[in-house]
Amino acid sequence: MAKLLSPFSMRDITFKNRIAVSPMSQYRAEDGHANAWHLVHLGRFALGGAGLVFAEATAVERDGRRTHGDLGLWEDSHIETLKPVAEFLNAEGAVAGIQLSHAGRKASERRPWHGETPVDDEDVAQRGEEPWTAIAPSPVPYADGWPTPMEMTEHEIARVLQSFADAARRALFAGFKAIEVYAAHGFLIHQFLSPVSNHRADAWGGSPDNRARFAVEVAKSIRQEWPEHLPLLFRLSATDWLDGGLGVEDVIDIARRLKDHGVDMIDCSSGGIGGKNRPRRMKIEQGFQIPFAQRIREEADIATMGVGFLWDALTCEKIVESGQADMIALARELLDDPHWLHHAAQVLGAASAFDDWPIESGWWLSKRQRLIEKLALR
Ligand SMILES: Cc1cc2nc3c(=O)[nH]c(=O)nc-3n(C[C@H](O)[C@H](O)[C@H](O)COP(=O)(O)O)c2cc1C
Repeated sequence: MAKLLSPFSMRDITFKNRIAVSPMSQYRAEDGHANAWHLVHLGRFALGGAGLVFAEATAVERDGRRTHGDLGLWEDSHIETLKPVAEFLNAEGAVAGIQLSHAGRKASERRPWHGETPVDDEDVAQRGEEPWTAIAPSPVPYADGWPTPMEMTEHEIARVLQSFADAARRALFAGFKAIEVYAAHGFLIHQFLSPVSNHRADAWGGSPDNRARFAVEVAKSIRQEWPEHLPLLFRLSATDWLDGGLGVEDVIDIARRLKDHGVDMIDCSSGGIGGKNRPRRMKIEQGFQIPFAQRIREEADIATMGVGFLWDALTCEKIVESGQADMIALARELLDDPHWLHHAAQVLGAASAFDDWPIESGWWLSKRQRLIEKLALR
């Protein structure tokens, strides 16, 4: 059997294959509450056969949302709206996962199709959406033209750590079986990790030890609420792609620290810390972030998830088969083909073409296939 199609276990949870649905913000929540959109959006990937389906970046505090449309778990009323989503994913054979997030200085942003620029009076006029003040480790704006965030006080740091723990508890009540912490792409935890955005002179900034402290404390506070038998992942940017930013050696060190505090897997992305333009040295090609997953896996001795510009089943198989990563996360390719896993199984020579599909479609598809062959229609 192809390795991509083989099960993978972390703690007491087994994913039926190595494909995860990467978190994809939909910007469709109402004050953080999920609705039918999220059920259908995520549900199609469970029907498509993915082993792990992550709900998008979900804010642990209201002001930690990136946009007005972000999902949230900052209050108990969010639990009920996420429950049907988690229930459906688990019932259809996927593992329901959720990404917990705080946007830090990237908060109060317009949705991508409204410009990905800071929310301002125009948004109030057009959609009644007010801007809010962002917090961050240091008062350094995200990019040119962005407001300066408020430097977090000790009290605010303690509050946000507690908010991660509270959100983890609510995720558990909602029925999720895996948590990924969003510590990549320039969001709050990444802002603490990177010297580009963390200029603090106290215990939360300066040395690698101090810059890693917030991420480690997030892992520790989540683990207080998140049961031992369930997996905890962190998404990290394996490099900032910038002079003076984090490099993969720094991130290997961060991964080692997280592993010591109950983190089971690193989802290896990159970039996002320094403004809007793609760093020139970031050369995109299929699987360009996979070497990071391989190095972190080997040198921090922790399971990794490879992600980014992947679409070809044979390439994904080679990555897991050669031990560069334990799992693969796909985002845009699954938007294009939610049944990617089933189609990949055919490419990878699974015994029967339609056996793994939900029977409501698989039964008809195999019947049609037999007829097509009999009549030599294709
Ligand atoms: C619509 C969309 C929304 C996304 N939202 C998130 C998110 O909430 N959290 C996150 O970590 N990454 C997010 N990403 C990034 C993806 O998870 C993924 O890392 C990236 O798209 C690269 O993978 P791909 O080439 O398979 O699309 C998003 C990507 C897309 C296309």
